[in-house]
Amino acid sequence: LDKYYEVCLDLTKEAGQVIREAIAKTKQIQTKSSDIDLVTETDQQVEKLLIGGLQKTFPDHKFIGEESTAAGQKCVLTDDPTWIIDPVDGTMNFVHGLPLVAISIGLLIKKNPVIGIIYNPILEQLYTARLGQGAFLNGNPIRVSGEKELSKALVCSEVGTSTDPLKVQVVLNNLTKLVGNVHGVRLYGTAACALGMVACGGADAFCHMGLHCWDLAAGQLIVEEAGGCLRDYEGLKKNLQQLHAGLAGIRALGSAALNMASVAAGGTDSYFEFGLHAWDMAAGDLIVREAGGIVTDTTGGPLDLMNRRVICASSEELAKKLSEILEQFEMERD
Ligand code: IPD
Repeated sequence: LDKYYEVCLDLTKEAGQVIREAIAKTKQIQTKSSDIDLVTETDQQVEKLLIGGLQKTFPDHKFIGEESTAAGQKCVLTDDPTWIIDPVDGTMNFVHGLPLVAISIGLLIKKNPVIGIIYNPILEQLYTARLGQGAFLNGNPIRVSGEKELSKALVCSEVGTSTDPLKVQVVLNNLTKLVGNVHGVRLYGTAACALGMVACGGADAFCHMGLHCWDLAAGQLIVEEAGGCLRDYEGLKKNLQQLHAGLAGIRALGSAALNMASVAAGGTDSYFEFGLHAWDMAAGDLIVREAGGIVTDTTGGPLDLMNRRVICASSEELAKKLSEILEQFEMERD
């Protein structure tokens, strides 16, 4: 395992360099399953680099890669050592220059996760886990928050990349009605950073009701100095509904891998999503569990990596409470 880990880590860092160099450049963008399911030449280049490098050293190993699957390769999980790879998780963020992007790599042997690596090369955050050895951020041990109360939980979720009306309805029922006629929605969790993102071009707009002058003062100037404008927008009220579950807050980082890593590191308490893929969660599954967290199916049953849905939480109690209030949704398996 040590050899697998070291080879993979070296390749991950090399791939990180490719993403770092590409994020500010013009990209060739194509769509996949929907108009908001994006792929760029960097996603493809990084996946080739990772699979090529691993294959050269471990010719007997198997691979499930997001972009190889998109290109028509079968997605089959056997008992053989299998690397499950998302070369750029958070492609929408990457396309917009929002620095919440990650390489996500999980190694499964006999269908059990043994290595998990999530690397954000822009913010230099490297989350790692090996079976039975704990989870780490940049080499320092991490633990989940241990939060048990839904009312105190900071929860991540995602709108996802499907525009299937039934799926979207379930997302809206489970969360808050945020999706309008926009490319993607990000709940950044800080008005200042969100305004900063608009100023640097990583996001195109930011709207919020109930801010204070201290939330806006610096950002207003920065956005305006960067050529943007600020307006009052009462109409937004209509589009905001309260989350029924009465949570402390909701976050959506735009990357399933980073949502899971944030639960592992205790920065958020839970994350759930319907419609993600094996490559989005393979690494995060091990990292959350090695950090003391719980990973289940959205029904509360055991996680099935190929079944396109996940809850991860800082405690069993929280995972159970979330599974009890979520409306369920079935999607075609990976
Ligand atoms: C997507 C991101 C997104 C999640 C989607 C994933 P990609 O991965 O993780 O946050 O909502 O379900 O497919 O396409 O950016 O690699």
